[in-house]
Amino acid sequence: MRRAIYPGSFDPLTNGHLDIIERGLRLFDEVVVAILVNQSKQSLFSVEERLEIIRHAAPWPGVRVDTFDGLLVHYAAAQGAAALVRGIRAVSDYEYELQMALMNRRLEPNVETVFLMSTEAYSFVSSRLVKEVASLGGSVAGLVPSVVEERLVARFGRSSTKE
Ligand code: PNS
Repeated sequence: MRRAIYPGSFDPLTNGHLDIIERGLRLFDEVVVAILVNQSKQSLFSVEERLEIIRHAAPWPGVRVDTFDGLLVHYAAAQGAAALVRGIRAVSDYEYELQMALMNRRLEPNVETVFLMSTEAYSFVSSRLVKEVASLGGSVAGLVPSVVEERLVARFGRSSTKE
């Protein structure tokens, strides 16, 4: 049983995240989508909402959704995970991701980090931009699962741009 942890804020989940979960499932028996509970960071969706959204959008065998706090490698080791999965969209992601991967390896040499390249179609999609566009009345259709789009509309109102 090869288990991987896919950690992140997922505020909110995007189609880019879903693409990485699907790719992870090709390599691992179980992918645990692990939402960081970060009290100090202001989030749009509560941890409970994000759990619900991911369970709804990725109801696939082999996917488990969980939360964690503290050090990611402590959580990964407690879960008996072989690897951490992170998505890389562009070179700009790489530097930060490499820093984290090397720090995590130093802290816990038994857990590997696996970088997966997201599909080109979502290479520009980030949770931060999705929130900004939706909050200013733009459409994020096709960039996030419909459950996220509906909740963004509920928060900010329907987009004024054509889809
Ligand atoms: O989706 P994000 O916000 O880019 O995910 C960042 C995340 C959750 C992977 C990172 O902040 C994290 O692992 N936080 C937990 C605390 C920790 O282990 N810090 C040391 C990282 S080297």
